[in-house]
Amino acid sequence: MLEQIKNINSLEELTALHTATFGKSGTMTLRLKDMKNLDNDARAALNLENTELREAFKLRQIELEDLSILAELKENALDAAANSSHASRLTPYVYGKLHPLSQNMTEISEIMTGMGYKFYSGPEIEDEWHNFTALNTPDFHPARDMQDTFFMESGNLLRTQTSSVQIRAMESDGVPIKMFVVGPTYRRDMDATHSPMFHQIELLWIDKDITLSDLVGDFKVFLEKFFGREFNMRIRPSFFPFTEPSLEVDIEWLPGKWLELGGAGMVHPNVLKNVGVDPDEYQGFALGFGFDRLAMMKYGLTDLREFFKGDVRWLQANGF
Ligand code: DAH
Repeated sequence: MLEQIKNINSLEELTALHTATFGKSGTMTLRLKDMKNLDNDARAALNLENTELREAFKLRQIELEDLSILAELKENALDAAANSSHASRLTPYVYGKLHPLSQNMTEISEIMTGMGYKFYSGPEIEDEWHNFTALNTPDFHPARDMQDTFFMESGNLLRTQTSSVQIRAMESDGVPIKMFVVGPTYRRDMDATHSPMFHQIELLWIDKDITLSDLVGDFKVFLEKFFGREFNMRIRPSFFPFTEPSLEVDIEWLPGKWLELGGAGMVHPNVLKNVGVDPDEYQGFALGFGFDRLAMMKYGLTDLREFFKGDVRWLQANGF
């Protein structure tokens, strides 16, 4: 009987056997009723059998109840894959990536930080003081013209150059300063190589004995780290209101093919005075260049506007 109980696999069967054993006219019930006719040994044996049977029933009942709870849990378990749509189970995962311009901005920031320049950012909605006036760009300067600048009714504007952050950085932290900016700038301009929103990189290093050769040396190191190869570089005289002397920097991209990269120069004494720095004590260079053009060159692209469309097919086709 004990073996039989252990082998029962359903609660119903167990209940049935229990009733047949311990019910009103169950086998054990009847035998117990008859106990008075047994001798002492037989009584003791029957009592033991009775206890063992009851325990065996109890144990098997617990086991079977546990098994049925487990089965129920299994049946109702949440199968996440089963609930997802058919398509998403069949399509391999496509991982998102940072846009190539963002990747390059991060890379540039790492290079500049590694060269000891500190990252600064400034507002994209600027006032005239930071974008023009403090940068020694007088009211009548053509750069302020409506053709180039997005002016707002408030009198503020979308910054046309990251040079505005030079002013903010020196106003807040003073000199000496060795800083860089990477960020969006805005102008009313649009063709294959111009977009109304584009990105600039700006460098500023002011201390007591900074010279033009620091500028040329650091820019060369930066370009070589960014492009992973060496270039011939040349500098040409130029004009910017906020630098004196001013120059433009070209690199020999292909043999005999020179590309203009950006503007630079020694920071104009008026700019230093505008932020409360004595130009007889401090001097330094500033450098600014279009960052999207660099990325186009890096990837051999011909139309800058593609970068800003956010077209995943184009990004994938170009391996980004
Ligand atoms: N801000 C200038 C532009 O947008 C570029 C530039 C020229 C930045 C000379 C400089 C600089 O810092 O020294 O055209």
